[in-house]
Amino acid sequence: MKKADLKMTGNTPSENSQTIQWFPGHMAKTEKQIAKDMKLVDAVVEIIDARIPYSSRNPVLSRLIGAKPRVVVMNKADLADPNETVKWLAYFQQQGFGALAVDSKSGKNVNQLLPQVEHVLKDKIAQWREKGMAGRKIRIMIVGIPNVGKSSLINRLARGSKAAVENRPGVTRSNQWFPVGKNIELLDTPGVLWPKFDDPQVGEHLAFTGAVKDDVLDTELLACRLLETLCEISPAILEKRYRIAAEETEGLNGAALLELVGKKRGMLAGGGMVDTERAARMLLEEFRSAKIGRITLEQAGM
Ligand code: G4P
Repeated sequence: MKKADLKMTGNTPSENSQTIQWFPGHMAKTEKQIAKDMKLVDAVVEIIDARIPYSSRNPVLSRLIGAKPRVVVMNKADLADPNETVKWLAYFQQQGFGALAVDSKSGKNVNQLLPQVEHVLKDKIAQWREKGMAGRKIRIMIVGIPNVGKSSLINRLARGSKAAVENRPGVTRSNQWFPVGKNIELLDTPGVLWPKFDDPQVGEHLAFTGAVKDDVLDTELLACRLLETLCEISPAILEKRYRIAAEETEGLNGAALLELVGKKRGMLAGGGMVDTERAARMLLEEFRSAKIGRITLEQAGM
């Protein structure tokens, strides 16, 4: 089957995070701004999507962060497989990062972020204390790709603060700080970075999760690829939600799987044909809202 062209490139930067289109000049400018901000902070919070921990990371961030302490926030953990999330957390911790899983929509676990930040900075905080700077505020910034949940997390953290949160790359910035907790200040503007869009599988996974807008993609093709991917992870997924037995899926390609899903749901068009467009939209919606189940598409250590 032909793979969809899921590249997120274009000529005009958009201010809407859903439709950000990256081009080299835009990327260079963003990178420069984030490198500048990096000098102002003590630690960095890297926010990723718990369903696609590999694909939702930016390829140059480690270079920008250097040796600065980092906390990886696996956001949207409510939609991901909890067993896989535990493995990913261990993977990030092994690399020396703080790591936690949160749901910024409900706020679950968000209160664990600040203690994690203090933990990764404990040596520095001890040094400050020795130097008589015990009251020094910790400064942090949040970085992540579009749609990963930066605004949701910041708004959760900033409850009670009047600071306005900007979420646009390449705009004039005020570099304001607002307090989150007793000892920590957060940069008002998150760093919006691009994903690894030169990797077709990354583009596909971003599209499955809805991080890339559907109108630039072929919905049916995307749904076919998602079905193939779900079958690879476990045929039990389709059995549970669509009552399609594992034996029924054997040897079927995505198009045939989509027909089967449509048929099981009674989505028929004229002449007894399956309305595959409708089935595709339903499948993507059910996957993105985790009605199909809490599924992680990428295994730890990729
Ligand atoms: P961004 O700033 O990084 O671009 O992301 P933003 O916070 O705008 O979040 C993008 C979408 O992801 C939003 O959904 C938001 O509600 C959702 N989201 C963020 N964090 C979580 C989470 O932990 N769990 C779940 N389930 N969803 C999360 P939306 O459809 O664009 O808006 P809305 O439906 O919330 O209005």
